[in-house]
Amino acid sequence: MTDTRVAVLVGSLRADSLNRRIAENLRDNAPEGVTLEIVEGLGDLPFYNEDLDGETVPEAASLVRKTVAEADRVLAVTPEYNATMPAVLNNAIDWLSRPYGAGAVVGKPFAVIGATPTPYGGKWAHEHTQKSATIAGAQVVEHIVVSQSAMEGDILADEAVVAKFADAVQALVDAEPTA
Ligand SMILES: Cc1cc2nc3c(=O)[nH]c(=O)nc-3n(C[C@H](O)[C@H](O)[C@H](O)COP(=O)(O)O)c2cc1C
Repeated sequence: MTDTRVAVLVGSLRADSLNRRIAENLRDNAPEGVTLEIVEGLGDLPFYNEDLDGETVPEAASLVRKTVAEADRVLAVTPEYNATMPAVLNNAIDWLSRPYGAGAVVGKPFAVIGATPTPYGGKWAHEHTQKSATIAGAQVVEHIVVSQSAMEGDILADEAVVAKFADAVQALVDAEPTA
C-alpha cells in the first residue's frame, strides 16, 4: 500500500519559525504509512491575481498546486498575524482554490494547527483558515485543530504538546474523504 501523503502549508516564512519547526518535527516523526511534505515556495507565489491565472500560470503557483494536488490530505501549520492568518497562507489558499470547483484542495481532508506566544495560540487565525479552506472547497475537519500557546520554554521539548500535534496528524490521516 502506498503512504498517505499530507501536504503541509506553513504560514510563516521566518527562518527560525516555530510553526515551521512544528511542521518539520511532525514530518521527521511521521507514523508508518504517512508522508508529510512541507510545501515549499509559498513565499515565491505572487499575490493572487486572476490576470495571472490563465492558460499559463506562474511557475511557483504551478509547483504549489502540483504538490497539493498529489497529496491525500492538507495540514496548515500557522501562527496568527493581527488576529488572522498570515497573508502568505491566505494567498496560498487563494491559488489552491482555483480553477473554481477544481482547485488542488477541493475534497481533501484539511486540518489546522499552530502556535503563537500568546495565551490563545493563534485561535482566530486557525478559525479563519478553516473558514477560508472550506470556501476553497477543502473538506475541513473542524474538530482537528490545535491552537497551542507557546508563552515560555520550547514547546517541542514538551512531550504532551508534541503528542497533541501528532494526534492531530493521525486524526487527519484517519479522516475519510467524503467527496
Ligand atoms: C505582523 C505580526 C502580527 C502578529 N499578530 C499576532 C496576533 O494577532 N496574535 C498572535 O497570537 N500573535 C501575533 N504575532 C506574534 C506571532 O504569533 C509570533 O511572532 C509567532 O512566533 C510567529 O510564528 P513563527 O515563529 O512560526 O514565525 C504577530 C507577529 C507579527 C510579526
